[in-house]
Amino acid sequence: MPSFLLDKRASRALLCAALAFVLSGCKEPPASTSDSNASPTGTESGTQTDASTVGKAKPYDRKDVILIGEYGDLTGDTAAFGTSTRDGIALAVDEANKAGGLLGKKIQIQLEDNNGKPDETTSRVKKLINQDNVLAVLGEVASSRSKMGAQVCQAAGVPMITPTSTNPNVTQVGDYIFRTCFIDPFQGTICARFAAQNLKAKRVAILTDTANAYSVGLTDFFKKEFVKNGGQIVAEENYKAKDQQFGSQLNNIKTANPEAIFLPGYYQDVATIAKQARDAGLDQPMFGGDGWDDPDLVALGGDAVQNCYFTTHASEDSGDPRMKQFSAKFRAFHKGKSPGALAAVAYDAANILFAAIKKAGGTDRAKIRDAIAATTKFPGVTGDITINKDRNVVKQLVILQVKDDKFKYVATIKP
Ligand code: PHE
Repeated sequence: MPSFLLDKRASRALLCAALAFVLSGCKEPPASTSDSNASPTGTESGTQTDASTVGKAKPYDRKDVILIGEYGDLTGDTAAFGTSTRDGIALAVDEANKAGGLLGKKIQIQLEDNNGKPDETTSRVKKLINQDNVLAVLGEVASSRSKMGAQVCQAAGVPMITPTSTNPNVTQVGDYIFRTCFIDPFQGTICARFAAQNLKAKRVAILTDTANAYSVGLTDFFKKEFVKNGGQIVAEENYKAKDQQFGSQLNNIKTANPEAIFLPGYYQDVATIAKQARDAGLDQPMFGGDGWDDPDLVALGGDAVQNCYFTTHASEDSGDPRMKQFSAKFRAFHKGKSPGALAAVAYDAANILFAAIKKAGGTDRAKIRDAIAATTKFPGVTGDITINKDRNVVKQLVILQVKDDKFKYVATIKP
């Protein structure tokens, strides 16, 4: 049995250790990490949005419906991100409309597919604002793309909530931009502690997607915490999303002989990397962040990703009663489909937006922005959500393990 396969006793010990770690009160780094947050910025290509051509949005003028814009990738390499998000939002809209809608009108979603491309993101979000005149915007999942959309929304004065973009820079775009998930200084810290305490790794190799702000940021935050606690980064290798050949990077990692491998990328690339790594004889445990969170990780990665770990936003197996109830509703609405974390956080983001519009009592976008900013202890299915002064959320995270082709719940880590 390869060394990365933990037996039952080991995984029980791991669960206990993870829980001890919860009890030890794992603290989120203070919001003053803003200078460290500034480094992983704009490394992806095409981040320059021509916001000058956006202009302020017209006052909201739809009399018949409350039109909300949504942008995401329904097609392209990480299409599972956009489709899961769409499904979570669709359930929130259905429930809100059954309960009477908003401001006496039904909610309608105008959904734009950006094909997972940053430049298409800019034009799709411009279309939502200039042509459709949406009241507010929901999206995206990938931080690099959320940053593009955020620049358009901010210039136009249209509130935007990203459900799941975790890179700190996204909400730094401006005061109209919010998120409903934790940020990567927290996620990176937990990944580092997990590697040290649970995987018992002192020597870690990292393979970063340099075309992805999320990946670059997560590497940075992981490294800081891991090294601070005496860990060593023995290899730091790079790739760009969609690369197919990782031979030379994996070769360097093999030579460095790490005890574990950190892959802060998206599920598609992670699956390809994991397969090539196993073929190259690297049998160390691999782990990553929420970018792993799609069933396609297993469909594409197969045996190569079994027993690996990742952090994410929620799990329907966490025993949380709100998540359980959401799961049941989601399955009923989407014909038996199981909700992933992305759908759950998207559902929360939509409900927070609806509550803010209700509270604003009208369609003045600045008032809606202020109402979102004032969100306090919103009882989301992914936890209580309070938007802080940086328009971010301090929130619990879950650790999952890929086990027998499924995602097995390991632990919840409170901030
Ligand atoms: N957090 C990732 C990012 O910011 C996106 C993501 C969230 C991917 C949740 C999968 C699941 O880029």
